[in-house]
Amino acid sequence: MDNGFAESEGMRNLKYLLGIDLGTSGTKTVLFEETGRAVASETIEYPLYQPKNGWAEQEPEDWWNAARDTVKAVIAKSGVKPENVKGVGISGQMHGLVLLDREGRVLRRSILWCDGRTQEECDEITQTIGKERLIELSANPALTGFTAGKILWVRKHEPEVYEKAAHILLPKDYIRYKLTGEYATEVSDASGMQLMDVAKRTWSDEILEGLGIEKRLLGKMYESQDVTGEVHQEAAALTGLAAGTIVVGGAGDNPAAAIGTGIVSQGKAFTTIGTSAVVYAVSDRMALDPKGRVHTLCASVPGKWTVMSCTQAAGLSLQWLRNHVCTPEMAEAAEKGVDPYEIMTAEAARVPIGSEKLIYLPYLMGERSPHPDPDCRGVFFGLSAMHERPHLIRSVMEGISFSQWECVEVFREMGVPIEDMMICGGGGRSPFWRQMLADMYGCSVSTVQSDQGGALGAAILAGVGAGIYSDLETACDALVRKKDSSEPNMAANGAYVKYFTLYKELYRTLFQSFKDLKNI
Ligand code: XUL
Repeated sequence: MDNGFAESEGMRNLKYLLGIDLGTSGTKTVLFEETGRAVASETIEYPLYQPKNGWAEQEPEDWWNAARDTVKAVIAKSGVKPENVKGVGISGQMHGLVLLDREGRVLRRSILWCDGRTQEECDEITQTIGKERLIELSANPALTGFTAGKILWVRKHEPEVYEKAAHILLPKDYIRYKLTGEYATEVSDASGMQLMDVAKRTWSDEILEGLGIEKRLLGKMYESQDVTGEVHQEAAALTGLAAGTIVVGGAGDNPAAAIGTGIVSQGKAFTTIGTSAVVYAVSDRMALDPKGRVHTLCASVPGKWTVMSCTQAAGLSLQWLRNHVCTPEMAEAAEKGVDPYEIMTAEAARVPIGSEKLIYLPYLMGERSPHPDPDCRGVFFGLSAMHERPHLIRSVMEGISFSQWECVEVFREMGVPIEDMMICGGGGRSPFWRQMLADMYGCSVSTVQSDQGGALGAAILAGVGAGIYSDLETACDALVRKKDSSEPNMAANGAYVKYFTLYKELYRTLFQSFKDLKNI
């Protein structure tokens, strides 16, 4: 990527698209040429608050500050004329609850996707709507990660806050509001709220009435590629964008990453390892798992749906290990000027498959896929005095990967075809981790040339909205290219299977102990 160049003669005729990706660790904004080439990128991080075990919150104002400043930075350092930016797409962490008052002011910290406080509210939702009817309409059983339970929680525990609520938005839709003044959402992210009729791609009056949530609180529903508004004067002054630049629906971070990796038709799937890890496949029909082990959502491609798993603490597990255990690796990384994960991964690669009989369960934030259970917690099983930090690192990477493998088994059981597995997110950058997943899945795992995932997907949606590309399929065919493929080693697969079998058993064995731990 060429950062910090001034707009040359040739560039003046080029069209540009902006992708803003509001993640959990930070917001990354990337400016792309219409060819898909990234010309400038900027990331700003913000804190995650965990006021209680199993709770997770962030400050929406931190998101807006990061979005505003990253947009400003990429426009400035690219030298691109603001009027040549033809559209903005936003992708963002899914399911989080943003409550605004009548003046559009934030009423409380956002309760995030990985917050597990709402089991009681989820039981209430199941009881009110009926278990089967809820799945028929929202395509999923009541899940603590999804937004509806969070709304009910605030209404019950903070009635004075709820009383003032005039708008309920998802995280990226708050950024849209700050840019355009519009209260709007789109189908891919909104289907993770548990308030939609997912087959019809609209809000469900039946669920809303049943739960007593007024429809006027919710944003206007769009398809992901639709234009939802234009950047207003005040936002233009703050960000450096031109007033009047269109902002499209965008997508949840995973559906956006799907577009950025070319997953727009049936048979294609990807694994992404960021703070969470997700396996995501597109389907022409609405495939449901009645056990709720994986989620069904509207895809950001019109007329298509998706099956998606979510391991809540994937990159988060490794980050936790880095911050609290890998102090020497952090120091070495600082000295050499490299990413600490590079050093950690190199150490993990020296340890054999199975981490010399150490198994990690990645349930630091409870779990969603394939175990919808907010009460489970992380485990190192088999810890011995012979284990050293590299064993811990490898077993954390293996545990996160076992969780993806377990989810892929659910997809296969549901008959969702996976013929082509792509990989993206921070984890996808490591050849060692890609090989581990290829060995476990028993199929090849490939990267794409651009590792901009969500930001690229959001920008491609903006390109369709701006009329630069005719549709998503054509855009992805033209812009997304495969890069490296890791082929499965079936001998390694055989070695992993023994640990995987035990890994799967451990959750079942510990199920009651997790509940007992919660109740102490
Ligand atoms: C998906 C999910 C996470 C978030 C955070 O259901 O909750 O992947 O989108 O990135």
